[in-house]
Amino acid sequence: MISRARPTTGLPPAHIFFFTVAMAVALAIVLIPVLPGEASLESGDIAFKTFSDGGEVIAEEGQRVTDQDIERIRGAGLLENHFGFADVLAAGIISILSASMFGLYLYLFRPPDVIGIRRLVMLGVIIVLWVAAARVFFSLTLPDSDGLYLGYMLPVAAAPMLVATLLDGGLAVLLAGMIALLAAFGAYHLPDARSSAGSIESLQMVSALALSGLAGIFAVRNADRVNNYATAGLSVGAVTFLALFSFWLLLPNRDGVDILLMLIASSVSAIGTVIIMMGGSYVLGAAFGVATRIQLMELAQMTHPLLRELQEKAPGTFHHSVMVGNLAERAADLTGADALLVRVGAYFHDIGKVAKPAYYIENQMGGENPHDRLDPDSSAKMVSEHVRAGLRLTGRYRLPVRVRAFIPEHHGTRLVTYFYRKAALADPAIDAERFRYPGPKPQSKETAIIMLADSVEAVVRASKDRSHEKIDELVEGVIDERVQEGQLDESDLTLSDLKTIGESFKSTLRGIYHPRIEYPAPSRAETQNRGGGVAYLQSPTDATEATRR
Ligand SMILES: [Fe+2]
Ligand SMILES: [Fe+2]
Repeated sequence: MISRARPTTGLPPAHIFFFTVAMAVALAIVLIPVLPGEASLESGDIAFKTFSDGGEVIAEEGQRVTDQDIERIRGAGLLENHFGFADVLAAGIISILSASMFGLYLYLFRPPDVIGIRRLVMLGVIIVLWVAAARVFFSLTLPDSDGLYLGYMLPVAAAPMLVATLLDGGLAVLLAGMIALLAAFGAYHLPDARSSAGSIESLQMVSALALSGLAGIFAVRNADRVNNYATAGLSVGAVTFLALFSFWLLLPNRDGVDILLMLIASSVSAIGTVIIMMGGSYVLGAAFGVATRIQLMELAQMTHPLLRELQEKAPGTFHHSVMVGNLAERAADLTGADALLVRVGAYFHDIGKVAKPAYYIENQMGGENPHDRLDPDSSAKMVSEHVRAGLRLTGRYRLPVRVRAFIPEHHGTRLVTYFYRKAALADPAIDAERFRYPGPKPQSKETAIIMLADSVEAVVRASKDRSHEKIDELVEGVIDERVQEGQLDESDLTLSDLKTIGESFKSTLRGIYHPRIEYPAPSRAETQNRGGGVAYLQSPTDATEATRR
């Protein structure tokens, strides 16, 4: 048996290192205040600190400043932002620390979907873009105390949500925390904001941004309908509002108007989040070749030309794929796997059979079997060819990589059993390796579930006995066999997942193959109403039935 070491994902440590360095530099450029400017203070504003020149107080903190005051303050150079070495060093250290956290996460947790340089670039773009947006936006709104709540209009939560739907849930949770810290650092690191705001405001920013980001991730993860984006937007808005409201309760002088401002800000942020999630995930997904939820939802509609062709040319395989989808989707749901991806994977797993449908039993419909003319060796090649043909087709149609993975992984490195045994009958010393599918073994929970559902569907369909006991026996037999063969070794399925999957298969199959109730013969009244649209199958055999009524 071919056994492989558990893959260590496609990200070599060198790539993670370069990503970390590039992120640290990019974040430092965004956070370090390279352009000194002036704090905004105009005539009629309230002084955000006490301004004094040579011991003489020009304006006290909290006082309204006049034209004259402004002139004196500006003349003394008191409004100029001075960025000292300490400011730059602080931003540099925070940038290095933050980038290292992302690097360490990638190195230690090896999220399976963050593979290849393109995806790293996408992650970097999302992080840096959002931190830059937060830095610019908050530096405009914060120095003015009216802008304190309006700053929360910026849909910061959309960044971790995009990462959750395009890349990895754990990475998204890390980003929700980091982006809250970086946005708050970027905002309050500016000297004018630093002097105008208290510690409670910066804590409020970290809390509101982190909590709303987390709420968004949880709401949008594994979204399988467009409605889920609206719900996610609503949760982001609601959590932002509640977080801001809780800090407002701590204020010594509460102003009722603030509640209105908070409501406006959280609503705008909710709407912005939905728009960015719909549009941004589409654009980023297309640009970086990642399967988006919307793309998967479209593929699950079965309107894809490849599925239409499968339905037309290989109706048996098409029906099998739909059944596998029904079986697997429920099992995926119960084990916390991505049910939408599993359904789409089921539809496409045997798509390669569209090329030569007659070589597969489910399409022969009792007609001629072309394998009768072939030796077992050639037959096995023909059968396993559907994996290679499927990969070629999905490559041509540019299906997402995560969907394509179902094609080689649903057979793993198993034997084309029937033809191997046939060949072994003639030559017991025959090399089994020649009869294997190319693999790899299932690398994820999702493809492993399809491997199991695929075999279970086939054996139950082939069995004449479909009693509950027989179904239970067949399901357990298939699962045990795959475990014994080591085909599930590289997937993330646990023993308890396997139990749940088995139970789910059994209950779905019992629903499909429940014992049919024999219909009583139609009554005389039904036959008499023949023209009245009453359905019947045969004329009544029991004449007494009509007289009894
Ligand atoms: Fe297959
Ligand atoms: Fe299949």
